[in-house]
Amino acid sequence: MANLEETEASLSEAQIAVHWREEEYLYPGARFIGQANASDPAIYERFSEEHFPECFREYADLLDWDQYWHTTLDTSNPPFWKWFVGGRLNASYNCVDRHLATKANKAAFIWVPEPEGDQTQIVTYRELHRRVNEMAALLRDFCGLKAGDRVTFHMPMVPELPICMLACARLGVVHSEVFAGFSGAACGGRIADSGSRVLITMDAYYRDGKLLDHKVKADEALAVATGQGAQVEKVLVWRRRPGEYHSATPMTEGRDFFVDEVMKDYLRKQVDPVPMPAEAPLFLMYTSGTTGRPKGAQHSTGGYMAYVAGTSKYFLDIHPDDTYWCFADIGWITGHSYIVYGPLALGTTSVLYEGAPAYPDPGRPWRIAERLGVDIFHTAPTTIRMLRKLGPDEPGKHNYRFKLMCTVGEPIEPEVWRWYHEVVGKGAAAIVDTWWMTETGGFLGSTLPAIKPMKPGSCGPSTLGIYPVIYDEEGKTVEAGSGKAGNICIRNPWPGIMQTIWGQPERFVQTYYARYCHDTASKDWHDWPFLCGDGAVQAIDGYYRILGRIDDVINVAGHRLGTKELESAVLTVPEVAEAAAVPVIDEVRGRVVEMYVALQPGLQAGREIEDKVKMAIETEIGKVARPKNVWIVPDMPKTRSGKIMRRVIASISNFADVGDITTLANPDIVEGIRRQVYKQKTERGEAPRELSAKELEEIQSFGRAD
Ligand code: PRX
Repeated sequence: MANLEETEASLSEAQIAVHWREEEYLYPGARFIGQANASDPAIYERFSEEHFPECFREYADLLDWDQYWHTTLDTSNPPFWKWFVGGRLNASYNCVDRHLATKANKAAFIWVPEPEGDQTQIVTYRELHRRVNEMAALLRDFCGLKAGDRVTFHMPMVPELPICMLACARLGVVHSEVFAGFSGAACGGRIADSGSRVLITMDAYYRDGKLLDHKVKADEALAVATGQGAQVEKVLVWRRRPGEYHSATPMTEGRDFFVDEVMKDYLRKQVDPVPMPAEAPLFLMYTSGTTGRPKGAQHSTGGYMAYVAGTSKYFLDIHPDDTYWCFADIGWITGHSYIVYGPLALGTTSVLYEGAPAYPDPGRPWRIAERLGVDIFHTAPTTIRMLRKLGPDEPGKHNYRFKLMCTVGEPIEPEVWRWYHEVVGKGAAAIVDTWWMTETGGFLGSTLPAIKPMKPGSCGPSTLGIYPVIYDEEGKTVEAGSGKAGNICIRNPWPGIMQTIWGQPERFVQTYYARYCHDTASKDWHDWPFLCGDGAVQAIDGYYRILGRIDDVINVAGHRLGTKELESAVLTVPEVAEAAAVPVIDEVRGRVVEMYVALQPGLQAGREIEDKVKMAIETEIGKVARPKNVWIVPDMPKTRSGKIMRRVIASISNFADVGDITTLANPDIVEGIRRQVYKQKTERGEAPRELSAKELEEIQSFGRAD
């Protein structure tokens, strides 16, 4: 594709210059294809537009319904679509009870605590059933919760988290899990927004070898929530080590209760699963973003469950006898859909890991995989890059065999993809690159692993029953294979789509539909494309390449550069382990690029590597994208889920205040980076410049990581 210098026509707003090289296809082996859940290409025909929406019956039929639905899709109140109307089901029943007849003694979860000497815990389906029932009884009888009430969790990666989720689902109570790495204040805002009367938390958990005090955040959360008018009646506190208490904060009399103590009254209690309408909300998942009112994506029971069961079966190729490990946190949507609800609906074994990926060393994940016989592995590019950086040869030392691996969360650089394939997957595992977001419940883009070949860096075609379109700024369709990028939208509703933003229906319409709606009076779904918020380009073979969030684009002298594209170019330099591109406000060119780079272990920073980085961008993209500075730093500031927090380094590059860094996994490194960059900038004669409020906002909210 064209180098920037060769691109004559000026690009419209929605377009991002695209310079990806076309990658070669790779094919899965016969052994994989032979056992795959979907290996007949006719499946695409079954889910073609002509069979929409009834095609999604196939997903819904993977579930047990208490009452079958009468209307597959109701579009009478756009864009508040309703799926499987008239149907009733219970998510907890579908994930637990229905497996008892054939799988009672099979592991539902295998929990691996972070301390390597601690015992791995196996939770069989029978035991899960008992514990979910006991917790449901406690929530109902001790807390007085009933269908439609909301409960907030601020729980780490322990089996008690899915147990609480399934206990809520059993009662029809709406759960809202806040990622444990988030601050007490962030949790408090979400408690208030959701109107939760109960908070469930844990005293402490392990991370990077330390037992972190977590209950302290509950007190902060309650202070913030109460300040915002919330009325929280009870805080339920699990104990990471039963009988012990590892928090410096006292238990507040009459408000805080240890779950293990209260539980004594509910042992062996049974609670009938409540048959919920398909349209009843199952949970809220707050999306990232620290400014403004939090945005709680509301997911349904029937549509969501059908969608995650179907996509888990066909795209992750989950069979009941697999040992599946999704190395993500349940505190984000990936964990809800593809650690808990999807895999359990299919009755498989799902591995939970408590701690940091490379603790105590980067061989840890592969030891776990070998010991547990994991055959499906699912993680994010950030974790893959970290493991590649810290232990590039570790996977080869371990005797595991993955049949399938998944990558999710951000575009994966082809260089990193190849390491994942060759080293982690030992050249044998099929890879799916699944593109989607919190709002969409499940996958939107991915290859069907036994049917479509892999192409590094591309997620593949859209998933079954998803019909995307790429629009330019004026709403004109960008042609496939034109090499032009635009805003990717999904033309049709699908069962996994969020129902609304909790309590903010106008914001829901505004954020996702206002931009490209053809006719606001129309009741025809064709008039309501869903704006995903990503820039994308479609190759002639129909595969999509995702360029990152629309708001993460850096506009240099009118050229819209996707951060991911810049970073991918830099990763072609063998010394580079991680790269992050950020904008610097520039009087002449609007924005210029600055590149932050972390090197492979053992390498020294130096002018030579800086030059190689600049050269890589010039060759792969063009001179206009040449970074003003390349900063070689020891590590990137990252969220606890491992995403690089670009807003922090963007602020440093612009001499702006870095803002709240308490949610970072490694806040200590920020000051060092700031000092290094300020010093070198001063030496290079760069002085701070006054930023307008709008510019400051752009810089301080750059990226979507937190
Ligand atoms: O930009 C896309 C990127 O992650 C965004 C959604 O983030 P979140 O709601 O936190 O959900 C992450 C887990 C689904 C998207 O807008 N993204 C996610 N998966 C991919 C991706 N970008 C490229 N390729 C992917 N596979």
